[in-house]
Amino acid sequence: MRLLLIGDIVGRGGRRAVMALAPVLRAELGCSLVAVNGENMAGGNGMNRKCLAELSGVVDVVTSGDHVWDQRDFVADVAAFSHVLRPANLPPMQPGRGWGVFAGPDGTEVAVISLLGRTFMAAGADCPFRTADAILKELAGRTRLILVDMHAEATSEKTALARYLDGRVTAVLGTHTHVPTADEQIFHGGTAFQCDVGMVGAR
Ligand SMILES: [Fe+2]
Repeated sequence: MRLLLIGDIVGRGGRRAVMALAPVLRAELGCSLVAVNGENMAGGNGMNRKCLAELSGVVDVVTSGDHVWDQRDFVADVAAFSHVLRPANLPPMQPGRGWGVFAGPDGTEVAVISLLGRTFMAAGADCPFRTADAILKELAGRTRLILVDMHAEATSEKTALARYLDGRVTAVLGTHTHVPTADEQIFHGGTAFQCDVGMVGAR
């Protein structure tokens, strides 16, 4: 069983790279599900219908973060995209949803959760720890494959969340800083972790 999370796609160059390479990686690695963080895919800020249409059929799930609403139309458009997640710990009156159970082409069901950090971030999110607890309670018995995108600035906050969820989710993978970290590991409880998986786009 392999799951692929591609870090923040930035602009047109990032989208072109993902369109060209994600299908190759999916086939080469035998991935059951391909998720991407798409919050920088529209010119570096947010996402929109056009960008999501380009990646349709290439990726199964799109996660996000603090820039999710940077393209104003997307507040109204998000409801049209059932595979797009806004951070689950944004206030509940905001549109969209923050987690879901998705199936890739081979039919394997995988839960994907999008969470936003609070340390050194200005988005006004609720506690990601309590939000994760609540989602896992709802997910109980549905699938044991659970991928968490922890979109946050501080390595300490990402590490703390991953330790907190160790043994309860498949992987906690960080996004947002655009800098990949060389700390990939599997904790004692079996949860895979990397502080940040980096970005896709031009430098
Ligand atoms: Fe971000």
